[in-house]
Amino acid sequence: MSTPSVRLSLEQLQTIERAAEAAYPEEACGLLIGRSAPGGAWRVSAVEASANVAEPPRTRRFEVDPKLRLRLERELRESPDSILGVYHSHPNGRAEPSETDISMIFEPHMIWLITAVADGRAGATMAYKPTEDGSAFRPLGLDLGGKETERVGGTDRMDFRSDNVASAAPEIVDAVVEASRSSAAPYGGDPWTLGLEPAFSELFETPVKVFPVVTGTAANSVAVATLTPPWGVIYAGRAAHVENDECGAPEFMTGGAKVTGIDERFGKIVPEALEAALAAAGTGEVHWSQPACLSLTQSTEMGQIYTPDELAVLTGIARRHALAVHMDGARFANAVAGSGKSPADLTWRAGVDALSFGATKNGALAAEAIVLFDDARAGELAFRHKRAGQLLSKMRFVSAQLAAYIADGLWLRLAEQANRQAQRLAHGLEGVPGASLAVPAEANELFVTLPRAVIDGLAEAGVLFYSWPETDPATTTIRLVTRHDTDPGEVDRLVETAHRLAAAAA
Ligand SMILES: Cc1ncc(COP(=O)(O)O)c(C=O)c1O
Repeated sequence: MSTPSVRLSLEQLQTIERAAEAAYPEEACGLLIGRSAPGGAWRVSAVEASANVAEPPRTRRFEVDPKLRLRLERELRESPDSILGVYHSHPNGRAEPSETDISMIFEPHMIWLITAVADGRAGATMAYKPTEDGSAFRPLGLDLGGKETERVGGTDRMDFRSDNVASAAPEIVDAVVEASRSSAAPYGGDPWTLGLEPAFSELFETPVKVFPVVTGTAANSVAVATLTPPWGVIYAGRAAHVENDECGAPEFMTGGAKVTGIDERFGKIVPEALEAALAAAGTGEVHWSQPACLSLTQSTEMGQIYTPDELAVLTGIARRHALAVHMDGARFANAVAGSGKSPADLTWRAGVDALSFGATKNGALAAEAIVLFDDARAGELAFRHKRAGQLLSKMRFVSAQLAAYIADGLWLRLAEQANRQAQRLAHGLEGVPGASLAVPAEANELFVTLPRAVIDGLAEAGVLFYSWPETDPATTTIRLVTRHDTDPGEVDRLVETAHRLAAAAA
């Protein structure tokens, strides 16, 4: 049986998150209006913010204004809806009931939503219901399948295939709609595109050039082509996207450069292997392609995050051999959110010349950007960008996505949500007999080794995932990817299913 869940729209969740941020460092609170739905679920129809009328300090306590409650009760007398529950925030705490919360269970029928806030930014929101005797809380699922954000799979969805399956964030959809309200100059002459360079320069704490594109393959191949002559070699991890998944686009865009795979550990290039490849590269030898570029993936294809020091070691080798450095940041947001390092520390300060800055996987409709730290290459990149078919006549629709994505830290909030669900999943799977993580959970991708019977059972139960590596039919490792819109209920259903299957297989 799946966990009972609370259904609310993404907009309602965002109202709660914004209230939690506005009240920080105090607790925010309010009431949830709605009704119970068939199958032990609850459906929220409205969220009503309250003043926190608890005695100060309100950093650890909340109390909903009784006047609000009375007013709502009066208004709802003739309505099928009623006061369903309460929401509040935990500044610098977890989205879990505290001892104080447990001591405040006076109405066991009420559901509770708790939002964690760290450094003024809302993180996870979790749902709970008190036990009948009021002595504890049980977790509920949180279903963001409200009508505004109806998603494939409904309440029983367990989709861990990829972050490419994610929905678009409403802020980004709204920005595109807004950009559509009037005419605007074509080919990047519009205000949205012109605003990108100042905004990205501020984000990266240095002047950058920004070239919006619509796929990660375009970002990577146009970027590396700008850093590599036709006779060059691009060194990348053996499992890197530029090496394996781009149908030769980097070679094509460079006009003939070679991509050479280097040994890696969990997606991180092994420095000694890079040194060895460069030592044997035949530098200066006219019969050989010449070392030109190093491409690093952050976070890696195995969900690992290079530290600035690890990057510096690799970019130091690159510099000594006169290689330019590219970073495939299709999941750059997950790396920044997961490491707590600044965008600058993970790029130019660590020796990166050009970044493929991903947004599509993390809430955009289709938008990526090439962020260029080396101004001298900007002129060439502009021509390559056009020749690659990436200078869209209606560029504003791509640029509006990117602008909304980085505005007010949205990109990091979305990535934090994805990363947090990966942590929840990793913890949940820890107790499953026979399960082990092939690599530590650092960003939003987990690689989990499981007994065959459990893997088959998960697939039969409707869990969507890919085996890893996909080309190995005997593998007992699966890849589970969490998204900005993965909700905790989705994770919990997978964990419960895995527990049940492992117990049956034992
Ligand atoms: C590491 C990495 N780079 C780049 C991409 C982007 O590729 P696409 O051309 O499909 O947008 C992906 C997509 O899966 C990826 O995983």
